[in-house]
Amino acid sequence: MEAHILQLLGLVFLLLFAAQHAPAIAISSPRCQTQCGGVEIPYPFGVGLECSLAPDFNVTCEVRDGISKPALFNNIVELLEISLIHGTIRFLNPISASCYNRSSDKMEEDPWWVNLRGTPYLFSDIHNKFTVIGCNTLAYIGYDINSPGYQSGCVSTCHNLSDLADGSCTGIGCCQTAIPKGMDTYFVGFDKNFNTSQIWNFSRCSYAVLMEAEAFNFSTAYITTTEFNDTASGQVAVVIDWAIRNGSMSCEVAKQNKEGTYACLSKNSDCVDSLNGPGYLCNCSKGYEGNPYLPDGCHALGHLTADVDECKYSPCPSGGICHNTVGSYRCSCRVGRKLNGSGNSCDLDTRLIIGNNTL
Ligand SMILES: *[C@@H]1O[C@H](CO)[C@@H](O)[C@H](O)[C@H]1NC(C)=O
Ligand SMILES: *[C@@H]1O[C@H](CO)[C@@H](O)[C@H](O)[C@H]1NC(C)=O
Ligand SMILES: *[C@@H]1O[C@H](CO)[C@@H](O)[C@H](O)[C@H]1NC(C)=O
Ligand SMILES: *[C@@H]1O[C@H](CO)[C@@H](O)[C@H](O)[C@H]1NC(C)=O
Ligand SMILES: *[C@@H]1O[C@H](CO)[C@@H](O)[C@H](O)[C@H]1NC(C)=O
Ligand SMILES: *[C@@H]1O[C@H](CO)[C@@H](O)[C@H](O)[C@H]1NC(C)=O
Ligand SMILES: *[C@@H]1O[C@H](CO)[C@@H](O)[C@H](O)[C@H]1NC(C)=O
Ligand SMILES: *[C@@H]1O[C@H](CO)[C@@H](O)[C@H](O)[C@H]1NC(C)=O
Ligand SMILES: *[C@@H]1O[C@H](CO)[C@@H](O)[C@H](O)[C@H]1NC(C)=O
Ligand SMILES: *[C@@H]1O[C@H](CO)[C@@H](O)[C@H](O)[C@H]1NC(C)=O
Repeated sequence: MEAHILQLLGLVFLLLFAAQHAPAIAISSPRCQTQCGGVEIPYPFGVGLECSLAPDFNVTCEVRDGISKPALFNNIVELLEISLIHGTIRFLNPISASCYNRSSDKMEEDPWWVNLRGTPYLFSDIHNKFTVIGCNTLAYIGYDINSPGYQSGCVSTCHNLSDLADGSCTGIGCCQTAIPKGMDTYFVGFDKNFNTSQIWNFSRCSYAVLMEAEAFNFSTAYITTTEFNDTASGQVAVVIDWAIRNGSMSCEVAKQNKEGTYACLSKNSDCVDSLNGPGYLCNCSKGYEGNPYLPDGCHALGHLTADVDECKYSPCPSGGICHNTVGSYRCSCRVGRKLNGSGNSCDLDTRLIIGNNTL
């Protein structure tokens, strides 16, 4: 609990600090780390300020418990994935719990909130559901404990354990609700009038967390055991929408590039307005793939790996002509000769034949 508050103070400080800094654009260089602990870190994200577009995209990569772990916001959240195509990241979000303590006859809660205001990040309304598990539980989700604004909740009850069903989250032992677009702050709380003081012997704890909907499948064991919390050490994946939100520019405005900050630097890239909040994303044009945020980052489909010039190694038979192709080469013979069936000699022929050789 104390640790959480310290971490959160750190987060708030970091976010204020980040908001006041407007550095010159950094472009990923070959020296920049592209991976951390098996997670790809594509530009505009980067490890270190000189490798990321902005401080908000600065990923820390530190070794903990012998494993490199990528994290955002001063190591507050562990990054699981960065997607350029979908404009999302996934990180681990702590599960909030409310548990009955029999000896004190009190409910014990671990409050948790995340403030992303002023950053390029918003909780994804499409991919997440506020998920509540319990047999006598009302949990709230909202922007803030006390301030007005968005607040919603979900009630979960069960009068008879035999009513519970695996895979079913419909208010009996499990409840899920959607969140609105534009959510930049996340607070979880439990209603004091719903508690587990009468049912502690089969369901002592209730849980609530905003999480990736696709990653959840209710199990009746979540009611009677600590399995839900234990599965990933008290954390589950949440999906965050990011975008280039600097100046809240739409594609139309950003493309005019008045401040020299248009982020879609690659040829064959398109600008796509953000679907959640202001700003835009870049995407390689149809038929191209790669990183639209880097100059020459988008390659024609299938051209992702740097091409090797196989012709340097003279693979064609004597009298043949080598043609380098992407990922391969082909040999042809001079007019009047043809490549023989096994491709290792140029035999006399009246026609010109071009053979194909694939490595
Ligand atoms: C960004 O990365 C640098 C390393 O270049 C690190 O020292 C710093 O703490 C990070 N800054 C922020 C604001 O996260
Ligand atoms: C954000 O926009 C300001 C001007 O609106 C510009 O000075 C700054 O460089 C931009 N930062 C990034 C990371 O694009
Ligand atoms: C980028 O393009 C791909 C394929 O063309 C598409 O699936 C994806 O949704 C696009 N991303 C955005 C943010 O529009
Ligand atoms: C329950 O409450 C007692 C008395 O207040 C306290 O000593 C104990 O640490 C609590 N147990 C748990 C698991 O928090
Ligand atoms: C549990 O809730 C009931 C009302 O529903 C209340 O009377 C009781 O004091 C609460 N117990 C705890 C431990 O919060
Ligand atoms: C729970 O449901 C089962 C089967 O539907 C029934 O036999 C049992 O009596 C119920 N128990 C209570 C306490 O309602
Ligand atoms: C959820 O788990 C149940 C078994 O516990 C399984 O039958 C069902 O197919 C699962 N559903 C999904 C969507 O994974
Ligand atoms: C839980 O406690 C109640 C009384 O408070 C008792 O009737 C019930 O049998 C107990 N259930 C279990 C599973 O221990
Ligand atoms: C959930 O798991 C975390 C990490 O193992 C632990 O610190 C926390 O106390 C657990 N919460 C409950 C209610 O069991
Ligand atoms: C290709 O040339 C080799 C000798 O270099 C010969 O053994 C083989 O029969 C020829 N294959 C065809 C299909 O002509």
